[in-house]
Amino acid sequence: MSLFGSVKRFGLREQFVTVVSLVIIASMLIIGGYLIKRQSEIYTNELEKRGQALVANLAYNAEYGVILESTTELENLIKGVARANDIIFVKILTIDGRVLAETGSESYANAKIKGKPEESALTTGRFQKTDYIAANGSDFMELSYPVETVRQTASRENLGSIYDYSSGENSYVREVIGEVRIGLTYSNLSREVTKSQTASILLTFIVVLSAIILMTAFVRIITRPIESLVEVTDQISKGDLTKTVDINRSDEIGLLAESFNRMIESLKKSQDEIEEYNRNLEEKIIERTRELEEAQTQLIQSEKMVAIGQLAAGVAHELNNPLGGILGYAQFTLEKIQNKCADNISDKDIESYKRYLRDIETQSRRCKAIVQNLLKFSRTSQTVKFDDVDVNAVVEDTLTFVEHQLMMNQITLVKNLDPSLPKIKGHPSQLQQVFTNIIINAMHASNPGSEVTLTTRFAPPLGEFNGTVEIAVVDSGKGIREEHLKKIFEPFFTTKDIGKGTGLGLSVSYGIIKEHGGEIRVKSKLGEETTFTVIVPVEKITCSADN
Ligand SMILES: Nc1ncnc2c1ncn2[C@@H]1O[C@H](COP(=O)(O)OP(=O)(O)OP(=O)(O)O)[C@@H](O)[C@H]1O
Ligand SMILES: [Mg+2]
Repeated sequence: MSLFGSVKRFGLREQFVTVVSLVIIASMLIIGGYLIKRQSEIYTNELEKRGQALVANLAYNAEYGVILESTTELENLIKGVARANDIIFVKILTIDGRVLAETGSESYANAKIKGKPEESALTTGRFQKTDYIAANGSDFMELSYPVETVRQTASRENLGSIYDYSSGENSYVREVIGEVRIGLTYSNLSREVTKSQTASILLTFIVVLSAIILMTAFVRIITRPIESLVEVTDQISKGDLTKTVDINRSDEIGLLAESFNRMIESLKKSQDEIEEYNRNLEEKIIERTRELEEAQTQLIQSEKMVAIGQLAAGVAHELNNPLGGILGYAQFTLEKIQNKCADNISDKDIESYKRYLRDIETQSRRCKAIVQNLLKFSRTSQTVKFDDVDVNAVVEDTLTFVEHQLMMNQITLVKNLDPSLPKIKGHPSQLQQVFTNIIINAMHASNPGSEVTLTTRFAPPLGEFNGTVEIAVVDSGKGIREEHLKKIFEPFFTTKDIGKGTGLGLSVSYGIIKEHGGEIRVKSKLGEETTFTVIVPVEKITCSADN
């Protein structure tokens, strides 16, 4: 992560102080470095100039000492010079390199030249400067200056005559007769540079420290109001609009606080309006819900009336036909018996009475079946006690009842019973009634020679059910028309011929399965197949008697 990346993780104050401190440190180091470099350059130049003046002066004064090779005079001469600041050695040499006088040069005998070696002052006849590094590691400069003298060269004509300067006929040449070398140490310079560096670092430290203290105080003045703004914003986000920002300043932060407080004020106003609106809305909803409930109660009441009316009409219609027949046959038989004396009743008459009575019996049975189914229908609304039920066993029991009828109608029943079916909570005989009706319906819809498949299986948790048992009956019969699909569970809906079905089977089954907390699903393709699936939860979930 970059430096700025990590700085961003701190607060505003830390970010500001860090960045400004870094800038100050960098500036101080650059300025300090530049000043130290300049200072050492000036010092070196000064040293060199002083050394140059010294060495030139010494060379001038050493002329006669070198000519006369007077060691004593030259040693006296260099003693005075050697006492000067920064001088580490002084040497006077003849033109052929013999040392006439020297002081302090022994320690610098093995010094190494720094950079390119310069030509000697003896050869160039000029001032020379060479930088050296001593055996002890300290730097010094060696300045050399030629010792010159003036020699007269007389003309051929004047040879042997008395020397006359004013005549101007003799010429003078400068001649190098020796060399003066002095060593100047840089150690004082290094000491000064070190001092300056220390002072500069100390100054940087003091400046940075003062800057940090000042900036922290200054940034605090800025960030404190921001912190209180953040605090109030936090309260607002939690829904508390009672707090305001308390900043009495006339600068931009003060203006920000003012507009922030105005914003809180208008937010509070809007919130109050919304709350008022919500209260009204709630009241309206309660009012509407109450109206709706009333309307629903009325609707249910009227639906109940319609249902009772339909039921009554259905029952009346269903019972009317057989009762009409019964009445007719009974009146007819009675009339015949009244018109004839007991002796006149022939065998033929008795046969026809028997036929009438059988018809009466058939129609009475039909009435009885209708009434029984009605009774069953009404019984589903009563609470019954549920036990643990093995659905496979109930299926097997059902099949013993219907097997004979299936055989008579040449229908083969294929069983796929899941042996690992869990027990459910239910009422065995009611469930048997449901299975019987569904199997008989499938049988009625199927053509002779076809198959009806009955499958039981344990279905994993689904929707509201924790686990269910499914009983599916599939036939490849005539199927159910789309428009009939939503009617088949209605009481008295039947497509069967009179006398074959009452139309109560599925509505009774529906009530029973609802009572078990389950449901019946139908899937049908006209002319191809129909599947009735009974789903019963392993644990009964709802036990509403009204369903
Ligand atoms: N497997 C099926 N295939 C085709 N139609 C069916 C099937 N099962 C039910 N139906 C249709 O649903 C109608 C209603 O069935 P329901 O069992 O309620 O009455 P029903 O069988 O006609 O008379 P009940 O069962 O009272 O003797 C049937 O008349 C039939 O039209
Ligand atoms: Mg039926």
